[in-house]
Amino acid sequence: MRCILVLNAKGGSGKTTIATNLAGYYAIKGISVALADLDPQRSSLDWLAVRPEGSPEIRAIDGTEGQLRVPKGTQVLIVDAPSRAHGTFLEQLVRRAHTIIMPVVPSPVDIRAAMRFLGELSALRKVLATDVKLAAIGNRVRERSNIASELDDYLDHQRLPDGRKFPYLTMLRQHSNYLRAAERGLSIFEFAPAATETDREQWRPLLRWLNSPHSVPAGFAG
Ligand SMILES: Nc1ncnc2c1ncn2[C@@H]1O[C@H](COP(=O)(O)OP(=O)(O)OP(=O)(O)O)[C@@H](O)[C@H]1O
Ligand SMILES: [Mg+2]
Repeated sequence: MRCILVLNAKGGSGKTTIATNLAGYYAIKGISVALADLDPQRSSLDWLAVRPEGSPEIRAIDGTEGQLRVPKGTQVLIVDAPSRAHGTFLEQLVRRAHTIIMPVVPSPVDIRAAMRFLGELSALRKVLATDVKLAAIGNRVRERSNIASELDDYLDHQRLPDGRKFPYLTMLRQHSNYLRAAERGLSIFEFAPAATETDREQWRPLLRWLNSPHSVPAGFAG
């Protein structure tokens, strides 16, 4: 089983949005996917609760008490992390992950917080050993804004502990499609392609990375 952790210490960066949409993406592909919510706010669990009957199945895991009971046969486990994950708790979260996606909002406050958090993350033994693969994405980007290109620039120059470039994959725009999807328990991949064409296009580099060997540790067999 593969574990994808959606992580950023900063609140409101888009962890739940990425986790739920990604769960929808895998479910549509017919992959047995479970979505674990570790946040006492229970946003992912709320999203699952309003998911229309008959939608491709996403299994719910209530991890708000710290326990993760993963159903047998799960192929992909997506973990929606709470904000303010630091220290030992952060280490525990990262321990079971093969892949970490870090959404960052292009605002000065968020970028500074992301820089600090990346420093903390990079110092973890598992990250140092490249036993987990990390990538960042921009989220809630207002098109053609200066701060978005600043984030572009910042993330583009990040280095992993082993000196390689920190993968920075794509920018997702701020759009009502995400609000509508959140409200209805759906992913943007379950909306009419014509209405979500730009969003799908923006997700493509992230999905390509997730479907490539670059997003799992060496020797990971699935
Ligand atoms: N690309 C986007 N376009 C429009 N709205 C978005 C987008 N991404 C996130 N949002 C909205 O922004 C708010 C915060 O996003 P989300 O809940 O995914 O962040 P989070 O990191 O999970 O927050 P928290 O730290 O509180 O768990 C939500 O209302 C969400 O619907
Ligand atoms: Mg959340």
